[in-house]
Amino acid sequence: MSRDTAYRMPQPVFDEPVFSESKPTPDPTRFRVPHPSDAALYQRIQQLLYEDVVTFPPARGTPSDLYALATAWGPHGPEVVRSIEEAGRIVFHTVGDIGASTQGKYPGELRVSDVLAREAQLAAPSERPAFLYLLGDLVYDFGEARYYYDQFYEPYRNYPAPIFAIPGNHDSFIVPGSPVAQWPLATFRRNFCSEETVVTPEAGSLHRTAMTQPGVYFALDAPYVRVVGLFSNALEDPGVISSEGGRWKGVPDYQLDFLAAQLRRAKRERYAGALLFAVHHPPFNYAPPAGAPGGGGAHGGNPAMLAQIDVICRAEGVYPHAFLAGHAHNYQRYTRTVQFGEGTYEVPFLVCGGGGHDVQSLVAARHGSEASEPANGADVSYLDVHPAVDAKGLRLDRHDDRSYGFLRVVADAARISFEFTPVIVGAEPGVAADTVTIDIARHALVPAPPPPPSEDVADKPKGRRGPRRGRAE
Ligand SMILES: [Fe+2]
Repeated sequence: MSRDTAYRMPQPVFDEPVFSESKPTPDPTRFRVPHPSDAALYQRIQQLLYEDVVTFPPARGTPSDLYALATAWGPHGPEVVRSIEEAGRIVFHTVGDIGASTQGKYPGELRVSDVLAREAQLAAPSERPAFLYLLGDLVYDFGEARYYYDQFYEPYRNYPAPIFAIPGNHDSFIVPGSPVAQWPLATFRRNFCSEETVVTPEAGSLHRTAMTQPGVYFALDAPYVRVVGLFSNALEDPGVISSEGGRWKGVPDYQLDFLAAQLRRAKRERYAGALLFAVHHPPFNYAPPAGAPGGGGAHGGNPAMLAQIDVICRAEGVYPHAFLAGHAHNYQRYTRTVQFGEGTYEVPFLVCGGGGHDVQSLVAARHGSEASEPANGADVSYLDVHPAVDAKGLRLDRHDDRSYGFLRVVADAARISFEFTPVIVGAEPGVAADTVTIDIARHALVPAPPPPPSEDVADKPKGRRGPRRGRAE
């Protein structure tokens, strides 16, 4: 799309990035654009959701480039970085699967986005989130440009900081017959991977400027933390980050070079901060063990994708401190123990896909048998089916499949903590219900008081929870 047709007004409108409205605005009462049900379309293309991958261009720059948080903040970047360094810690938010595909889902999305915005607005300076990192599936059902306003710009209008994103399958799957100009990844890139600080047509009358991240995969470098984000493509399952040797024709292999280059750089620099990987499709997703009654939730894990990542980590001698993912509409926190070089690493794998679209149960009845929910701390090593590193065990420490929720991440020079806060429509937001802290130098969990046995992490105040189950999304 040419610049003339993409933007309705002379650009740039502002001489610096803009992240929110000058005055907080009330919730919308309805979609601006009526969203017809895509149920029939889903039925028609069901098979394609497991077959049709998409291509995408390489990120700008070289594979080892970093995209600095200060760049996103524009002229305020140095001041923001200075205040983070003076505080000695950075705080940020992350969550996936925010989009509301129907009016009925809108309260969930708005509740989560309101809680995030309120936390960001009211926080003391040292607690103020420096950014929000979205883990994909922003705009349902298929990343249509006309729904970006309703499902992204409007709900997040009051979030007063940069919002980065990796695309999910719903931001990239191409409905057959769609004109090239309307392919969803083009819209995503226009709004998140812009070369200039512009207001896009999707923002409507709102002021948030497009994010300037260099691509659909990129390394965000902030004080104390670096987030290496990968795009896991357009399928419901599995997540695909490369052609896998020709299996997924059309998917470029840029991301493998990118990941290797980033790890090489971290090693060369002796990077001492927290290194995180973010990818929409989760490496692990709960299912009961073989022979146990019932089955897992809507999605499986992604062992082939994880193996590719692990192989590169092993080759470069660098392993991340934690993995972030969405896609499953619930919260799951695993700890994978990995023998890596001379050390034994404890690595949280966090799934946080309860951004408002839906809430999905971790287990489902199958062949007439109900499944049991796993207890906290359950040994789920059987989910680590083809480890390409020396994996010593996998534990599902905590989960919440009854609430929406998000993660607040806090990092300093020594530790990084991930705090899950459940969000329930109609109830006041609770406090963090699950926290895991990692000692950065040792790649080890910092012991916390043991949680009550076999309890979900969510508090259970009165109020309408999200639906328990939805179709696979
Ligand atoms: Fe997804």
